[in-house]
Amino acid sequence: MGRLDGKVAVVTGAGRGIGRATAELFAGEGAAVVVNDVDPDPANEAAQAIKEAGGQAMVSTDNTVEFAEAGRMMEAAAGQLGKIDIVVNNAGITRDRTFHKLDDETWDFVLNVNLRTAFHTTRAAMPYLREAAKKEMQEQGKPAYHRKVTFTASTAALLGNSGQANYTAAKGAIISLTRTLARELGARGRGQGPPVPGVRGSRLHLGRDPARLRRDAGSLSPWR
Ligand SMILES: NC(=O)c1ccc[n+]([C@@H]2O[C@H](COP(=O)([O-])OP(=O)(O)OC[C@H]3O[C@@H](n4cnc5c(N)ncnc54)[C@H](O)[C@@H]3O)[C@@H](O)[C@H]2O)c1
Repeated sequence: MGRLDGKVAVVTGAGRGIGRATAELFAGEGAAVVVNDVDPDPANEAAQAIKEAGGQAMVSTDNTVEFAEAGRMMEAAAGQLGKIDIVVNNAGITRDRTFHKLDDETWDFVLNVNLRTAFHTTRAAMPYLREAAKKEMQEQGKPAYHRKVTFTASTAALLGNSGQANYTAAKGAIISLTRTLARELGARGRGQGPPVPGVRGSRLHLGRDPARLRRDAGSLSPWR
């Protein structure tokens, strides 16, 4: 028996890296997983790998930078899998620039992918999470179990990192958003956890010098 048997999890940015590992882990624990990634090939590959391992997965290539697409993803997820229990806001990207060269387009792109997707994905999931919790409150006096929404920050936001003003601003906002939603929603049975990964080898760091990454990330980073 898996720890997530019967649960439905939506994982953004699940075609690669930490998101894919999360999706596979959750599926291995019995959850049906929505593999969301704007890149269709890795999204399909990740979902296929889950199915081949005996799990349940569906693909979403919605770009939740747009709220309408977040709504469409949640509607399809609830329609096909019956409900939504877990939301993992993992999608993230870097576009490093020295600060004096940081233009509006690069700033907005990084803020949108790291922060706006989390805002939209979570807001679009709210009706499904709230309705289920309300029903359980009415019927049983408390939610049957805690639904979970997680946000993915970065140690770079805690420490600062040269060339990452856009990324660290977005991830710092993610940490604050997590704290606020934990207060606002946590008491109603929809807990939040803020995973703060250190540096992990993934596409996010392609082309970067591993020694410099390790040095910049400092002692908080469990480099692998
Ligand atoms: N890898 C690290 O060392 C590290 C460190 C700290 C934080 N993080 C954070 O962890 C998360 C995952 O990072 P990773 O290293 O696995 O990255 P990755 O580049 O390996 O995977 C990210 C995936 O997100 C997808 N994506 C991009 N924009 C998207 C969007 N709008 N909607 C849906 N999917 C989208 C990409 O196509 C990609 O498949 C990110 O939020 C990242 O900022 C990573």
